[in-house]
Amino acid sequence: MTRLAGIIGHPVAHSLSPVFQRVAFKHAGLDVRYEAWDTPPREVESRVQSLRGPGFLGANVTIPHKQGVIPFLDELGDLSVRIGAVNTIVNREGRLFGFNTDGPGFIEALRREANAEPKGERVLVLGAGGAARGIVFALVEAGVAAVDIHNRTAARADDLAAVAGPSARAVPGLPDLSGYAIIVNTTSVGMHGTGTEDQSACDLSLAAPRTLAVDIVYTPAETTFLRRARECGLRTLGGLPMLIYQGALAFTHWTGVPAPVDVMFEAAENELSRRRQYA
Ligand code: ATR
Repeated sequence: MTRLAGIIGHPVAHSLSPVFQRVAFKHAGLDVRYEAWDTPPREVESRVQSLRGPGFLGANVTIPHKQGVIPFLDELGDLSVRIGAVNTIVNREGRLFGFNTDGPGFIEALRREANAEPKGERVLVLGAGGAARGIVFALVEAGVAAVDIHNRTAARADDLAAVAGPSARAVPGLPDLSGYAIIVNTTSVGMHGTGTEDQSACDLSLAAPRTLAVDIVYTPAETTFLRRARECGLRTLGGLPMLIYQGALAFTHWTGVPAPVDVMFEAAENELSRRRQYA
């Protein structure tokens, strides 16, 4: 029997998840159809409840429903409780489990694609929105020495630092960048379509030479932040690895087997270059 999985969001037409999850299931020899489920807010409950059916593996959840699905789930993983957001739902014999693989996907991307271990390091996170939240909680869990959060709206950084644990703190002004092993841009500054494509979330010229600069934006592949980092001689990591690894961890939650990350990367990169051609 063909089983079903999909992504719940609104809109989801441009999501890359169907592209790389489909090749992952195919490559693993699993008979699973992965669909894009555009779900307006009033349909979230019925969409989630439908996942209890025997043919459903589960779902990914994206903007704007990562909080909204929670009341309809039976059990939540630790990190998803602390973050207050779910991006992966797993159907186990009619019971629905919610996980958050965004933060862990970010940590996997650091380790596997940048050979960087956050444990014991000092990290600066720029931004305090939903994406920053998952990343900050996962960094704290990974045992960083400190995670400093800087945001345009200082109160949001204060709120996030207050709940993320003792190693997290908000920094009001832009701090001395030379003290960080890893600097992460989680803001939308530099993202295609925002009008800020030529801006960088901070001036990286004063960062220490071995610093890893990470941007979670993946369109364009090299943001102004990453280009400046490269020009300053820093190490860089783009946003696609985090996207792929959050999907890879979701795949493993559903199937119990490791995800074929290489084919997932290849499919996502091909799709992004196809979209650039037709843009
Ligand atoms: P996401 O869930 O993708 O993180 P979000 O919750 O809207 O999205 O957060 C966007 C982040 O980018 C916020 O930290 C936002 O700063 P504010 O909290 O001050 O709004 C940040 N951001 C967006 N545009 C920005 C800009 N032009 N300059 C600085 N920060 C910006």
